Amino acid sequence: MPGGGVVLAATTDVNRIEAPVIRKAYLMCAFAAFGGIFFGYDSGYINGVMGMRYFVHEFTDLPYPAADATEAEKAAFVIPAWRQSLIVSILSAGTFIGSIVAGDVADFLGRRTTIIAGRGIFSAGVIVQVAATAYDLLVAGRLIAGLGVGFVSAIIILYMSEIAPKRVRGAIVSGYQFCITVGIMLASCVVYGTQNYTDSGSYRIPIAIQWVWALLLGKSVGLACLPESPRYFVKRGELQKATKALARLRGQPDDSEYIQQELAEIVANHEYELRATGEGGYLQTWLNCFKGSIFDPKSNLRRTILGTSAQMMQQWTGINFIFYFGTTFFQKLGSINNPFLISLVTTLVNVFSTPLSFWTVERFGRRPLLIWGALGMVVCQFIIAIARTVDGASPATVKAEISFICVYIFFFASTWGPGAWVVVGETFPLSIRSRGVALSVASNWLWNCVIAIITPYMVNPDQGNLGAKVFFVWGALCIGLPLVGLLLANRGTGLSLEQVDALLEESTPRKSAKWVPTKTFAREMGIDGSGVLKGEIVEDVERRGSVF
Ligand code: BGC
Repeated sequence: MPGGGVVLAATTDVNRIEAPVIRKAYLMCAFAAFGGIFFGYDSGYINGVMGMRYFVHEFTDLPYPAADATEAEKAAFVIPAWRQSLIVSILSAGTFIGSIVAGDVADFLGRRTTIIAGRGIFSAGVIVQVAATAYDLLVAGRLIAGLGVGFVSAIIILYMSEIAPKRVRGAIVSGYQFCITVGIMLASCVVYGTQNYTDSGSYRIPIAIQWVWALLLGKSVGLACLPESPRYFVKRGELQKATKALARLRGQPDDSEYIQQELAEIVANHEYELRATGEGGYLQTWLNCFKGSIFDPKSNLRRTILGTSAQMMQQWTGINFIFYFGTTFFQKLGSINNPFLISLVTTLVNVFSTPLSFWTVERFGRRPLLIWGALGMVVCQFIIAIARTVDGASPATVKAEISFICVYIFFFASTWGPGAWVVVGETFPLSIRSRGVALSVASNWLWNCVIAIITPYMVNPDQGNLGAKVFFVWGALCIGLPLVGLLLANRGTGLSLEQVDALLEESTPRKSAKWVPTKTFAREMGIDGSGVLKGEIVEDVERRGSVF
């Protein structure tokens, strides 16, 4: 029998294409989300490290300022702006390259293996960073670690979106964002603890702790025990393996009707998409990401624009200004005795606000979250900047600014933080999914890198000297964010990835909240209820498996 005896049955009931959610599914996704911790930690530790006295002394060779040093002498005891830019942004440059490459690797080796490979590269980067006592090695280490983070950050989103049950996909992907925030907070706690050490432990301990996250993501607890994504096997034409992986994920026997139906839907949707966009070799499959009209909500081009612009805009919120440069920014804000503590508080607000999205992303859908969250951020940012313009750096203004920075982080953490990842994970059809996700995540890192490079120049007193007025820039950039929600984002809630595909075909972003699925791709493609996947389709799927 074609397909090595794979049995697939179509259903007319659009709600029955997936087995009931089991606890194991949550646990599996929780393991995968663990990757978020080392993404967050890796981005977060450098913020505090660059403000540490020992680190500044070691890396700049400047003598410690004397106890009676003037404000100007104290202010001169810092890592130069161009070095700060380089140290911070080189990680994002590595992740940019890593995430693009990861898309190909994930189609070739599988999603899970790519994540495990990313973890290996990342660990090598950590070794180099721990060994560093000068800029060059630190920068090289961050570049290598960045490549690994790029692999993990792109492919975990792909993997989680592909294995998560549809009813909780948004919440589960938001769990990944939650882990990012926990990673940033843990970095801040560790840096807070070691900031006053007078030896290299001050920065080496925070750097070395990254291994723990890499270790936990790997063999010991999680990934090695998780099944590969069934959608990867469908793409490779290995339907037997796809059946087994799906059965494990859903806690059902291989021959369960649920498994047959869900797999039939994945196969039929993939086939349908391929017939629409055409096949092609390696280059063509990349070019397919840009195919179609910008005005057609279903075209690959439009989906790529949605994914890349959502990630770009997420960075335009300026959130990483706080998480990368917060400590040094708070040092200069005025009337603040303990900038490390304020930095820690911002990371706590980030962590505790994110879980709200587990509920809102499913209850209200992706689109309203992106629109309302953006408006909330814009208001806070303009308040912070206007307060500084009209009231200078009085203690009351500084207090108000810190409070509004916290409210702004709340809006980010409960909306755009998770929302941008959720949208990316569910926007692309299987034929271009790994590349579309890779491009979108690369867009996040590209803008992350650009912002890391330019921010010190905009803010530092001896350059742009914007100080807190930099929030005018973030506020202005945020004005474009609601448009992504309004014009491009869809509801997504409660739909399988294949149903999101049908939604894009039959509806528009504005009407997506009311759209209900009425068809299954399996029926459309003529897989009948008798149970056996049409030989012709199986042959097509298996033949294509060799083209990655
Ligand atoms: C962003 C990161 C940011 C983090 C803050 C993520 O979604 O992509 O750049 O540092 O959120 O929580």
